[in-house]
Amino acid sequence: MKHLLEVKDLAISFKTYAGEVQAIRGVNFHVDKGETLAIVGESGSGKSVTSQAIMKLIPMPPGYFKSGQILFNGQDLVPKSEKEMQSIRGKEIGMIFQDPMTSLNPTMKVGRQITEVLFKHETISKEDAHKRAVELLSLVGIPMPERRVNQYPHEFSGGMRQRVVIAMALAANPKLLIADEPTTALDVTIQAQILELMKELQKKIETSIIFITHDLGVVANVADRVAVMYAGQIVEIGTVDEIFYNPKHPYTWGLLASMPSLDHNGEEELMAIPGSPPDLTNPPKGDAFALRSPYAMKIDFEQEPPMFKISDTHYVKSWLLHPDAPKVEPPAAVKSKMREFKDHYEKPVQVKEGE
Ligand SMILES: Nc1ncnc2c1ncn2[C@@H]1O[C@H](COP(=O)(O)OP(=O)(O)OP(=O)(O)O)[C@@H](O)[C@H]1O
Ligand SMILES: [Mg+2]
Repeated sequence: MKHLLEVKDLAISFKTYAGEVQAIRGVNFHVDKGETLAIVGESGSGKSVTSQAIMKLIPMPPGYFKSGQILFNGQDLVPKSEKEMQSIRGKEIGMIFQDPMTSLNPTMKVGRQITEVLFKHETISKEDAHKRAVELLSLVGIPMPERRVNQYPHEFSGGMRQRVVIAMALAANPKLLIADEPTTALDVTIQAQILELMKELQKKIETSIIFITHDLGVVANVADRVAVMYAGQIVEIGTVDEIFYNPKHPYTWGLLASMPSLDHNGEEELMAIPGSPPDLTNPPKGDAFALRSPYAMKIDFEQEPPMFKISDTHYVKSWLLHPDAPKVEPPAAVKSKMREFKDHYEKPVQVKEGE
């Protein structure tokens, strides 16, 4: 099957006074129709640059593509002009950012902001566009959409604003929706509601989603597959089950261990991953995580590991997966997290409509 999106060997750098920041260093992944891929990783790992690259929203300069292809429906977006991208952004690929106000115009009624997206990308009458705007607000769970459609962004709460942004992003029925930390700016209860909405939408519409977060905790519920990023590279990629129940990379172990407990009582101590990510103006030779890994071997400081294949869907960039490497098990803290997840997220039996 042809993938909806296929990112191949992507490398992006920024030219700065401090030197060349190698933000993305050879990234490969794909997204299929209707699936949700989560990208997780610490701050600075390259999640936003990856998503902005797909929309071609990287400021150039200082940024530039060093290598790679971004195949969307088989067509490479990298060489596309700004004009060509304008008909793809919003229409083919929608995007939701962390702060809803970056996407909303405070001086324009939300209904009009939605109908503008429709007018831009399709031929539609004023009445039909208005009707669609009301439908979209209703789809994203905004109560009294007929009234709300005539209100301004400041009349909405933060969570409701993010729903409006999601409605706008979905207006032109994009094939791919990119959500970059869509809930980080919201409080915990509202976060959960927006995540619930994304899950519902994913079932209702056929849009593929790239969901970016630094919070592994939200991923199990939302995503089909997970890509773990570290220092501008994907270090582990797999299905949710593979990442949560069979994680192989010590960095993924670190992320799992540093997650707050699911039934947390506020007393639990979190295990942060010791150390900090490398300086991307001068990335280390070998495995970029070696300096922080208690399992680092001599080769980790000399040679970059390849992606080792664990299954058709599960790949890990660590020398620990080499057949000659010593067998290491995840630490006890990670194993207990894995068990905890199993108890909480054993997937409920999916009942199809009409059954
Ligand atoms: N315009 C820019 N100029 C120089 N460096 C940049 C620029 N934009 C991003 N970078 C660098 O690229 C790297 C990746 O940044 P990115 O924003 O993708 O991280 P992230 O994973 O999204 O982090 P966060 O969780 O904090 O959002 C960082 O080292 C960052 O400093
Ligand atoms: Mg980011």
